[in-house]
This record gives sequence, structure tokens and C-alpha cells, in this order.
Amino acid sequence: MNVLIIHGPNLRLLGTREIDVYGTTTLAEIDQRCEREARELAIGVRCVHHNSEGAIIDELHAARHAYDAVVINPAAYTHYAYALRDAIAAIDLPTVEVHLTNTQAREEFRAISVIAPVCRGTISGFGSESYALALRALRALFNA
Ligand code: DQA
Repeated sequence: MNVLIIHGPNLRLLGTREIDVYGTTTLAEIDQRCEREARELAIGVRCVHHNSEGAIIDELHAARHAYDAVVINPAAYTHYAYALRDAIAAIDLPTVEVHLTNTQAREEFRAISVIAPVCRGTISGFGSESYALALRALRALFNA
């Protein structure tokens, strides 16, 4: 089982970005956490970061025949990116939307996800553990 993990815009700045909201964990540390969880679950993972929506869509198209599932933190694209939503629907791979923060408990615009309806599920609010939980959910889905 191979899973593509996609980090959306601005997540490369984690560790220094709005520390009061996102904490001090860096993206490299999140990737390490994902790799550790994946090893325990016997999942192969590749973690990628892109700021642009087009680059994320290109990754998704390429993932179609190379991966079994996707974990994506679409960051701000969550709230308005219809082309990204259509790409997730088009590739037809089980996809888990993750967020570090509880987007429902923040500004009003963050409560809307245009991505969620085309995802298998959403995990939000557990920091880097959101990614680990997404991998666990996919493992359970594939074992079922
Ligand atoms: C985020 C939440 C988004 O609203 C925000 O734009 C981000 C990060 C999160 O992981 O909590 O960049 O996706």
C-alpha cells in the first residue's frame, strides 16, 4: 500500500509561521512523523509540498496509477479551490483531508471546505497527529 502525502501552500513555513496558531513543529518534523507511522503500518509514503494549485493537481494526476491513496492538507485551498476539488474527484483514489488546526473553531471562512465532499473523510485539529491518524484510517480501510 502506497500513500502520497501532499502539503499545500505556506506549510513549508511551519515552525516559524504564526506559532501561536500552528506551534513550532516544522514540516520536516511532520514528514518524519508520517514516515515513522507509515513504517509501523507497513505503508509506503512520499511527502511533497507545493505552493501552487496547478502543481498539486499535477501530483494528483500522476498519483492515479502510482499510489493507492492520498492524504492532503490543502491549506487555504481547502476553502475555495474548485479545480483541486475536481482533481481529487477525477483521480478516484481514497483521499483523506487533514488539517493541523480545528478549522471549524477558527475564522468563519475556514469552516467551509470545498474539498471535503470529494474526500473519504477529514481529520482536523490534532497537529501533526492529524496526518498519523489519516494513515491509520487508510490502513483500516484497506484492511477491511
Ligand atoms: C490549515 C488550515 C487552513 O485554513 C490554513 O489556510 C492553513 C493550514 C491547517 O492545517 O490547519 O494553511 O490547513
